[in-house]
Amino acid sequence: MEPYVADQLGRPLKDLRISVIDQCNFRCTYCMPAEIFGPDYAFLPEDQLLSFDEIIRLVKVFAKFGVEKIRLTGGEPLMRKNLDDLIRRIREVDGIKDIAVTTNAVFLVRQAKKLKEAGLDRVNISLDAIEDEVFQETNGRGVKIKPVLKGIEAARDAGLPIKVNMVVKKGMNESQILPMARYFKDTGDTLRFIEFMEVGNHNGWNMDAVVPKKKIIDQIHEEMPLIPLDANYYGEVASRYRYKDGEGEIGVISSVTEAFCSSCTRARLSADGQLFTCLFASSGYDLRECLRSDYSEEQITEYLIAIWTGRSDQYSIDRAKGKPMKENKIEMSYIGG
Ligand code: GTP
Ligand code: 5AD
Ligand code: SF4
Ligand code: SF4
Repeated sequence: MEPYVADQLGRPLKDLRISVIDQCNFRCTYCMPAEIFGPDYAFLPEDQLLSFDEIIRLVKVFAKFGVEKIRLTGGEPLMRKNLDDLIRRIREVDGIKDIAVTTNAVFLVRQAKKLKEAGLDRVNISLDAIEDEVFQETNGRGVKIKPVLKGIEAARDAGLPIKVNMVVKKGMNESQILPMARYFKDTGDTLRFIEFMEVGNHNGWNMDAVVPKKKIIDQIHEEMPLIPLDANYYGEVASRYRYKDGEGEIGVISSVTEAFCSSCTRARLSADGQLFTCLFASSGYDLRECLRSDYSEEQITEYLIAIWTGRSDQYSIDRAKGKPMKENKIEMSYIGG
């Protein structure tokens, strides 16, 4: 029997987001600004990353808790060597129903088919603009949109369902809301607009830079009328809409203006094995230490029960109520969003 664990606010643990590497081929200005993440930035050395054996040991314990969904993130998860082997092994774990990856798509051209064959269910692809000049600025590496569109095409050819994530930041890419909506309307991919969040310590967040969900929806609705839809599953982060003419679906992830902490069933594991119970946490729990000091499966299970039952995080709600923000938050590229 699986131990049912609910946290202090009655939330079960359902999803585990695993960052498999903290490096990325992009330098998105709001996530890994090039001036901070430069050539001398100390990324995690390989021996500090959890091995696939270690990740699988943990996934098995989490699955016993009722975790059904695994999302692999980075940095850029496709930069982790032999990611397909990890997916193949996660696929074999009893109870895991959904395996997804969040990626910038550039490496999908070479890997989509292999990852699908290994058991990947779907991909979420980050793309912040459909015009080269804007995208070259946002990704911080001057990469044009073509390599991303080719990655999207490769995912489609491999039969992977696709969601496209666009972080919307005022002064950066709000000009792209309508062009992105028009572009993806009849592709079959779900485009999701994400309110710019105050993650990490270097992304220069302030409320003025947030384009609220309502503004995004109003803008699209005026040109292409929308109808709200119900969530696909309990705790889905995006609110969904479909176009009235029947062609296509969009979503908005509004963690700033409409926090969704009350149904937050997610835990996050960093590439070096720290467990975080909130995206905005400033410290984690060292599961790698447990694995490397030979804790038994029962001991790890007990530790996780203690962590989850003690959890009371609801950062976005607290911020909306005006509580002061924490300093030293973890970086988005370290925890994978
Ligand atoms: P689906 O399973 O496809 O719904 O994916 P997802 O939206 O949960 O994951 P994805 O990696 O595509 O993340 C999309 C955006 O939602 C990113 O900006 C994430 O940082 C944000 N996000 C995901 N989970 C949380 C969360 O628990 N809290 C907050 N504040 N943001 C989240
Ligand atoms: N606010 C909102 N979303 C962000 N992402 C990265 N940084 C931020 C931020 N500050 C998104 C990425 C990716 C997902 C994992 O998180 O674009 O799609
Ligand atoms: Fe890389 Fe994604 Fe961060 Fe951009 S948002 S720097 S693609 S991890
Ligand atoms: Fe969950 Fe923290 Fe995000 Fe709220 S802010 S939804 S508690 S991860």
